[in-house]
Amino acid sequence: MNFLAGKRILLGITGGIAAYKSAELTRLLVKSGADVRIVMTTGAQAFVTPLTFQALSGNPVHHELLDETAEAGMGHIELAKWADRILIAPASANFIAKLAHGLADDLLSTLCLASAAPTLVAPAMNQQMWANSQTQANIEHLQQRVQILGPDVGEQACGDFGAGRMLEPAELIQQLHLSFSNQLLSGLNILVTAGPTREAIDAVRFISNRSSGKMGYAIATAAREAGANVTLISGPVNLQTPEGVARIDVETAEQMGQRVFDQLANQHILIGSAAVADYVPSTSFQGKMKKSANNLSIELTPTIDIMKEVGKMADRPFTVGFAAETEHVKQYAQEKRQRKHMDMIAANQVGTPDRGFEVDNNSLDLYWSGGEHHLALTHKNKLARQLIAVISERYHEYRPQTV
Ligand code: PMT
Repeated sequence: MNFLAGKRILLGITGGIAAYKSAELTRLLVKSGADVRIVMTTGAQAFVTPLTFQALSGNPVHHELLDETAEAGMGHIELAKWADRILIAPASANFIAKLAHGLADDLLSTLCLASAAPTLVAPAMNQQMWANSQTQANIEHLQQRVQILGPDVGEQACGDFGAGRMLEPAELIQQLHLSFSNQLLSGLNILVTAGPTREAIDAVRFISNRSSGKMGYAIATAAREAGANVTLISGPVNLQTPEGVARIDVETAEQMGQRVFDQLANQHILIGSAAVADYVPSTSFQGKMKKSANNLSIELTPTIDIMKEVGKMADRPFTVGFAAETEHVKQYAQEKRQRKHMDMIAANQVGTPDRGFEVDNNSLDLYWSGGEHHLALTHKNKLARQLIAVISERYHEYRPQTV
């Protein structure tokens, strides 16, 4: 099936020798039946002329942010809303830095900020620039909200050899294709919990855990990419809200529980990846506790078990819980799934430095009634996409009548 036919693709071209390959990319897009609009940066125009892309796409090429004629036709906000996908190819190191920091000083960067369309970025640059720690930090940051395609490893136009070549146009088309064929959760409402909770001891101290929110935010992003309407209930984390996701911030387990129950009606799937505190101090001291004794005991009371409460509901969404375990992962996870009446549980081994809490990578073992599936160690963004694919399969098997 050709998923690109009739799709509105905004192709952003930035300054780099690989810009010449974007001519072939445009030709292939048009051949696939996509409606293509081109936006070129000033740097890109030093390599290839807008006329080439106008001829290939059959549409005027956009390059000025403040261009009265262009604004009178399809203005930049209109263009941002028009796009089904934004593909930046080639994406220079400079443009990637701008995107990572949310700059909007030219038409293309402004469009990227103003659009809710999923964005795919194909880096192309000298291998040393790609390896530079600043570029890598920008890429890591960007991965939370865009899909990075490549780069390839090989001989470069400057004579160097290494990573930094733009993926070939045919490969980019394939990735773009995949991004549409992957609309597995189209039209579904999905609620995701992420991050830790904080339970106050006094005015300045709290009990919390090591959750960074990375896993939950990656899941929210993947669910959004798969076409779902995503609401993310987040504990305190230092992450940007994924593009197109509605985020609700909470601090405590009680607040997270309240927000989950507020949002539950009309949700098709609930994914509980938050590391919710199991206990809260029985009393929270009003001001800052003074250091007055050698020993201090704090009495703790159990918090609400959100997933367990949802599991008791007759008309509940398809629930996917998480289990963070240091040992007997399979046994504990399966027991937890049954105890909390969850449709599926995603178990992760925690307590090792290469996966689980805080770090970028993770692996998951998925269990449901009568089945299981292993997702190998990889970046949380990739893992989240794989998890969403399995959830979609299980969901549609359980509830074939819905969507
Ligand atoms: O955030 P990161 O740094 O990326 O790390 C990711 C992660 C390790 C936090 C994540 O992958 C994960 O395992 N999340 C669940 C952590 C956890 O609290 O596990 P648990 O086994 O204690 O809880 C089981 C399930 O019950 C979870 O779905 C949890 O959200 C839920 N729960 C737990 C306690 C509680 N009071 N209410 C709940 O709903």
